[in-house]
Amino acid sequence: MTMKNRDNERFITSSFLNFFTHIIGFGFGLLIGISLTSYLSKTFSLNFQIQQFLLPSFGLKPQLSPPLSPPPPPSITIASTNVNVSVSKNLTKVLSDSKEKRVIKKSNTRKGLSDFLEPPIAMHDMSEEELLWRASMVPKIQKVPFKQTPKIAFMFLTKGAVLLAPLWEKFFEGNDGLYSIYVHSDPSFTETVPQSSIFHGRRIPSKEVKWGENSMIEAERRLLANALLDFSNQRFVLLSEACIPLFNFSTIYSYLINSTKVYVETLDVLTNVGRGRYSNNMKPQIDLSQWRKGSQWFQIDRELAIEIVSDEVYFPVFKNHCNPPCYSDEHYIPTLVNIKFLMRTANRTLTWVDWSKGGPHPSKFIRPDVTIDFLKKLRHGSSCDYNGQTSNICYLFARKFTPHALDRLLRFTPKLMQFN
Ligand SMILES: *[C@@H]1O[C@H](CO)[C@@H](O)[C@H](O)[C@H]1NC(C)=O
Ligand SMILES: *[C@@H]1O[C@H](CO)[C@@H](O)[C@H](O)[C@H]1NC(C)=O
Ligand SMILES: *[C@@H]1O[C@H](CO)[C@@H](O)[C@H](O)[C@H]1NC(C)=O
Ligand SMILES: *[C@@H]1O[C@H](CO)[C@@H](O)[C@H](O)[C@H]1NC(C)=O
Ligand SMILES: *[C@@H]1O[C@H](CO)[C@@H](O)[C@H](O)[C@H]1NC(C)=O
Repeated sequence: MTMKNRDNERFITSSFLNFFTHIIGFGFGLLIGISLTSYLSKTFSLNFQIQQFLLPSFGLKPQLSPPLSPPPPPSITIASTNVNVSVSKNLTKVLSDSKEKRVIKKSNTRKGLSDFLEPPIAMHDMSEEELLWRASMVPKIQKVPFKQTPKIAFMFLTKGAVLLAPLWEKFFEGNDGLYSIYVHSDPSFTETVPQSSIFHGRRIPSKEVKWGENSMIEAERRLLANALLDFSNQRFVLLSEACIPLFNFSTIYSYLINSTKVYVETLDVLTNVGRGRYSNNMKPQIDLSQWRKGSQWFQIDRELAIEIVSDEVYFPVFKNHCNPPCYSDEHYIPTLVNIKFLMRTANRTLTWVDWSKGGPHPSKFIRPDVTIDFLKKLRHGSSCDYNGQTSNICYLFARKFTPHALDRLLRFTPKLMQFN
């Protein structure tokens, strides 16, 4: 239909250009029309082949030839993005050669949706740019045509090992299929995680993170982008190696999945540790009145996660104009949410922390600090709004706990928090 119309258009245009005689005009138009048709059909078939490649690539899966099209050429160069995309049937081999062995069911039938939805392995060879691009994709049709059990992505931003891993192991036990774990640790950390651990194989390609610097938000965006590649991840929780859960998995799961809000603090702090960190160079994208501060430890949904990984407006402003003593991890997401998604946030964090002693770092908790009464206070010691009702569950996580606190935590929490 479109092709036909365009031919006609071209035909009419040609006729006008060649107005000396109708006959010459007609002949010329016909010639253009024929060549245009053949040009268009070539373009369409190329586009079709590119699409055929892009779709299965979500699951890093080998491509089977689509039944109605000729096999794709060995390599397509997409000039606009300057990326060489190699379409090869050797992807299966590449995958099985990598360290993370994963059995890929070979099927003789056409690839279906399940392959597309299969989450990729945590470690991959995408560049940062490629990762963010892929993570930013959103289906335009909202209604999901299959049964999906929503998962929570627990994203650990650590220096090295997840120090309180034994506690988290107990927490996650028996809840397979309802969560995914991602670990971003310093590239210098090389300790291996035992195969039996739930943290095994969950490390994502990571880069060095410096406290208070922009590399911190880059790591957060990297964690979010990796977690977004799994379509069933619907909530995204940022944790550190010093975080503990305050409730059992089922309580945390339903609290987050059922929440109508995201949890990002957006405080307008008037002093030098708030507005004082704003720079006039951030104009026009960010005005002083829009500048916010909040806890780094957020709990958000898929929609906001996608906005954060695909933000190309505010993130560059922070990169250029928010460097210590401007700590972007305390301002970037709060400011972004304040400007674009204020109605979506509960304006609080679910991660309890003790700032009462002042200074740039919150209090740390060691062995003697961990008592049943202390944990009870963290669990139910405050009141807040949850989905329009007053709740005494305001914090689901707490920090900062040192490994010295681990044995007591392991002793008290399973009973107190009713772990499985
Ligand atoms: C793409 O491939 C061509 C030829 O195979 C090569 O000259 C070019 O450098 C490649 N471009 C990239 C971005 O890898
Ligand atoms: C693909 O696999 C075939 C046979 O296994 C091999 O001959 C060929 O070199 C491979 N090509 C690439 C690009 O790895
Ligand atoms: C989780 O804890 C709640 C109380 O906080 C309890 O009612 C529930 O039974 C526990 N869930 C499991 C699976 O033990
Ligand atoms: C969400 O809340 C509804 C109604 O209270 C409840 O039936 C449902 O089980 C909850 N969902 C989860 C995941 O807990
Ligand atoms: C967010 O919370 C702070 C502190 O509780 C409050 O001052 C501020 O007005 C809140 N912002 C919004 C938009 O509700």
